[in-house]
Amino acid sequence: MSEHAPLGTAVVTGASAGLGKIYADRLARRGHDLLLVARRGDLLEDIAKTLRTKYGVKVQTLVADLGAVDDLERVAQAVAADPAITLLVNNAGASTLAPVAQTSAAQMQTMLGVNVNALTRLSHAVLPAFKARNRGTLVNVGSVLGFHTLPISSIYSGTKAFVVAFTRGLQDEVTGTGVKVQLVLPAATATDIWELSGVPMTTLAEGTIMAAEDCVDAALAGLDIGEAITLPSVNDAALLSAFTDAGAKLFTASQTGKPAARYSAAALPLAAAA
Ligand SMILES: NC(=O)c1ccc[n+]([C@@H]2O[C@H](COP(=O)([O-])OP(=O)(O)OC[C@H]3O[C@@H](n4cnc5c(N)ncnc54)[C@H](OP(=O)(O)O)[C@@H]3O)[C@@H](O)[C@H]2O)c1
Repeated sequence: MSEHAPLGTAVVTGASAGLGKIYADRLARRGHDLLLVARRGDLLEDIAKTLRTKYGVKVQTLVADLGAVDDLERVAQAVAADPAITLLVNNAGASTLAPVAQTSAAQMQTMLGVNVNALTRLSHAVLPAFKARNRGTLVNVGSVLGFHTLPISSIYSGTKAFVVAFTRGLQDEVTGTGVKVQLVLPAATATDIWELSGVPMTTLAEGTIMAAEDCVDAALAGLDIGEAITLPSVNDAALLSAFTDAGAKLFTASQTGKPAARYSAAALPLAAAA
């Protein structure tokens, strides 16, 4: 009998609450052993105990502040060194929703550290082994605020836009290999993140908030059908193709090597008047 679960070990960051806690449940139910990462070790231990009993899988916990460089490096090295790891869900996220001038430097650093730096470092930690084995799945959790910015989401949206660009680049890197990279872009979902962000869920428009279980189940369904980008709450999938096609067209149109005609001296009203 194999020492490891046939599906291997899934690492879930931010597994102590919200979407990560549901990911942990669903992946254990599928037969993955788990490595759960977050700061609140007591919550992780409770979850680990429940999942071991419920599904008979092995569950390890790793208490770490992914916004702290030393802790992040410890997690990255543990993940890079474990040959049983076949799946990483970069789910941990931090959000302060406020204008930049009303966001503390610490809140800003936390968003950049957890949403950008940790997600990048941990992707970097698993990919060499995944590529060498030609097997492995990376799931990066972004947000619909990665392609839309509100006056209170400049930093958060910026971090999630990074997740979009970075993850789409990784998808191109692994094309033609056995490695899968999925970008998950949830819209408003019922978790603690709202209260923590300073915008309670009660202030959101009725009917716009998804249950965390529905969000993760849709994201995993998207993974199962081979989607590169999963928008759990978007019905019209053609909107995503139109959006990505428009981005590609705009990029192609930028490859002219010359200022556009509207910037020529003759086209500028002030120059014409002078
Ligand atoms: N809920 C939404 O409406 C929504 C929408 C779009 C995208 N998302 C994204 O979905 C992901 C999950 O968010 P959620 O809604 O489930 O949020 P959540 O309920 O607040 O959970 C966040 C998780 O991340 C962990 N975490 C936060 N800071 C951390 C740090 N410094 N080090 C280690 N772990 C840390 C938390 O654990 P500890 O506190 O124990 O460390 C917790 O387990 C995030 O990437 C978020 O940006 C959420």
